[in-house]
Amino acid sequence: MWDYSEKVIEHYRNPRNVGKIDNADAIGVAGSLACGDQLKIYLKIENNIVTDAKFQTFGCGSAVASSSILTEMIIGKTIDEVKKITNQDIADQLGGLPPEKMHCSVMGYEALEDALKNYDDYVDLDELRQEKVSEKIICTCFGVTENQIWDAIKHNGLKTVEEVTNFTKAGGACGRCKEAIKDIIDTYYKKEANEESSLSPAQKILKISKVIETQIAAELQKDGGDITLVDIDGPKVFVKLRGKCSGCKNAMMTLKGFVENTLKEAVDRNIEVVEVE
Ligand code: FES
Repeated sequence: MWDYSEKVIEHYRNPRNVGKIDNADAIGVAGSLACGDQLKIYLKIENNIVTDAKFQTFGCGSAVASSSILTEMIIGKTIDEVKKITNQDIADQLGGLPPEKMHCSVMGYEALEDALKNYDDYVDLDELRQEKVSEKIICTCFGVTENQIWDAIKHNGLKTVEEVTNFTKAGGACGRCKEAIKDIIDTYYKKEANEESSLSPAQKILKISKVIETQIAAELQKDGGDITLVDIDGPKVFVKLRGKCSGCKNAMMTLKGFVENTLKEAVDRNIEVVEVE
């Protein structure tokens, strides 16, 4: 039996914004009925702001809860803000999802991405679906493409086939695609390692400084905090930290943890942050 948060249960019992917007400015679809769950999201957009959002879903309780909270998260936000929402944000807003149900948050993210692409490009939806169909399908049981698996690995740091199954459903039925999923994971991390090792020490220092300045300091300054880069010695990055970080996604994450994770993701997985007075 899976352990659901109170928020998941509450949104499942009382889903918000269920239905259809007849004259929607953007519509996005993810999943498929053949695979057991599907989400269709409708957006009304005025002056670059999402003024209304509704959804129709065929799926489990987690799919209903993820879709419901997603509509609440995006109404009133600008398109730029909505584009920054990730599947992890959806899961976090629900107080977490069981690992086996993370694919429901991914479905919400994909439907939103589809709708925004539709809105940005003014592309006919049929063309969009055609494009999706032409992507290389890795898991035929669930219709999951190579790009979807790659994105799930990239955005969620997935390392095993089981994790990919939890986030995308790929591999969760006959299992014939597991070998191909493993290849994609290996290729992703090889590519990442090559990119990291291709940086010279000077380039690495520049990149660390830039990430601290543009990503980390900007986030900390929102809450009156700040960061100063003191020194870099091999994989060790010495920093002075001030303030707090309400933007840290996990309430248990420390300020130092937030800095270290951001640098690991953006520059090098071996980075270790050392806080100095
Ligand atoms: S092809 Fe992926 S589980 Fe069957």
